[in-house]
Amino acid sequence: MEFPYYPLNDFGPAMKGMVIGGLGIFHVFLAQFAIGGGMLMCYFQWLSQTGREPAAREALDGYFKFLVLVSFVAGALTGVAMWFTTIQISPRTIGMMVEEFHWIWATEWTFFCLEVAAGYAYYRCGGGLADRARMTLLALYSLAAWFSLFWINGILSWQLTPGGWTPAGSVWAGFFNPSFWPSLFYRTFAAMSIAALVACVVVNAHPRLSLGERDALIHRAAHFLIPMALMPVLGLWYLYAIPPDSRAWALGGSAAMTLFTGVAAGASLFVGLYALIGLNLQRVTINGATATLLCGLAFVATGGGEFVREGVRKPYTVRGALFSNSIAPSEVAELRRVGSVTRDPYPLRHPQAYPNDQVRLGAKVFRFLCGVCHTMDGANGLVHLAGTWTLEQLRLNIAKLQLTKPFMPPFAGTADELEALVQLISWTRAGRPEDWPLSNEVPTIVQIDRWLQEAGIHPASQREGKR
Ligand code: HEC
Repeated sequence: MEFPYYPLNDFGPAMKGMVIGGLGIFHVFLAQFAIGGGMLMCYFQWLSQTGREPAAREALDGYFKFLVLVSFVAGALTGVAMWFTTIQISPRTIGMMVEEFHWIWATEWTFFCLEVAAGYAYYRCGGGLADRARMTLLALYSLAAWFSLFWINGILSWQLTPGGWTPAGSVWAGFFNPSFWPSLFYRTFAAMSIAALVACVVVNAHPRLSLGERDALIHRAAHFLIPMALMPVLGLWYLYAIPPDSRAWALGGSAAMTLFTGVAAGASLFVGLYALIGLNLQRVTINGATATLLCGLAFVATGGGEFVREGVRKPYTVRGALFSNSIAPSEVAELRRVGSVTRDPYPLRHPQAYPNDQVRLGAKVFRFLCGVCHTMDGANGLVHLAGTWTLEQLRLNIAKLQLTKPFMPPFAGTADELEALVQLISWTRAGRPEDWPLSNEVPTIVQIDRWLQEAGIHPASQREGKR
């Protein structure tokens, strides 16, 4: 078997998954803002050209400069940064996404180009154009922006719920997967809400609008918050569409996931109630500070939601097809036999920092099998997680990795590699001394082998299904 090895980067104390996740949250927030912003601009243009709110035009031109600066530049930059980091962390996942969906990506990028062109044309010439032309450009911009969400949404939701998709089958079976619609609607409404909240901040800060005009425009923008009322239903639909094990982690099974689900739901609920009752029913007005606070809460809700969406996919990056550490389920048996890093051609970064070849082997095994979700002594560090475990406990719990925590994939290496990893952990927690004895007792390896066999090669969710 030819296993595809790629060079993997190390981000020091920051966990690799967190590097992608952290960047992803900013990117998603900015991108969703750009989409909702486009729709809101169409609405404001319509309000101004039909004479309903003549001040909308003033706000639009001020608002748009802000939008262009923030979402085009920062959104595009974080988007590129996503590609740069993911290919250093999970190249095989990216490879699979590109290979499976290349025409979809191409379509998405075409819409993105249209979005940039329409947005830029509006930015440069919008002020001098007649209303009809302005509206055309804005409609083009927001349609293109929404369609780029449409295309990317199919690929992202496929990772968690591939549904009836198989590598040999139709690409559309993967694209229109079980969580496609709930997440598309959810993201669309989230985009509208973010745009409305940012509009409240911008209108408040606009120097050339009278108090009355501000008030009127804020209540117009608040209409974009009304669809938030449907978000709880969409959230439930989404939870219903994802696999039962993922759902269970978000709803109590994993402390971190449950906490973030709660934070996301709580922050959305707060924004939603304020928007519906305060802004739309009681017609209270909102000042810049409150609007900024609500924007902050929307960011927290987005962050929590993205964290959960990425988190509940574990132990997979593409459910059923690729584990988080870029190993396909069908390859585990073979890697257990020949070794996970036997043919990994990439050297360690500071090989001389390790005391012997066994610990060096452990470091390669760690990099390949665990490094995407753990560091040694930084975020989610093994030394902290297993700090008090005896050697026996380390061996047993790593051999039965998928039973230790069901969101970890099965261990995909030999018993010797596992022992090398155990030595790496205990050497690190001993303070990285210069001399470290080799561990080469035969009974130890035999025992680890037995535990590996007991654990089997299937992830926890499938083991349960088999019983
Ligand atoms: C898909 C991501 C992922 C991979 C890959 C992964 N882990 Fe984990 N691991 C986790 C998460 C998440 C936790 C839970 C951390 C917590 O409880 O705060 C965890 C917990 C642990 C714990 C503590 C378990 C406990 O009961 O407290 C150990 C030890 C551990 N992992 C070792 C490993 C080793 C060794 C590897 C590589 C062979 C590995 N993990 C691969 C995600 C992963």
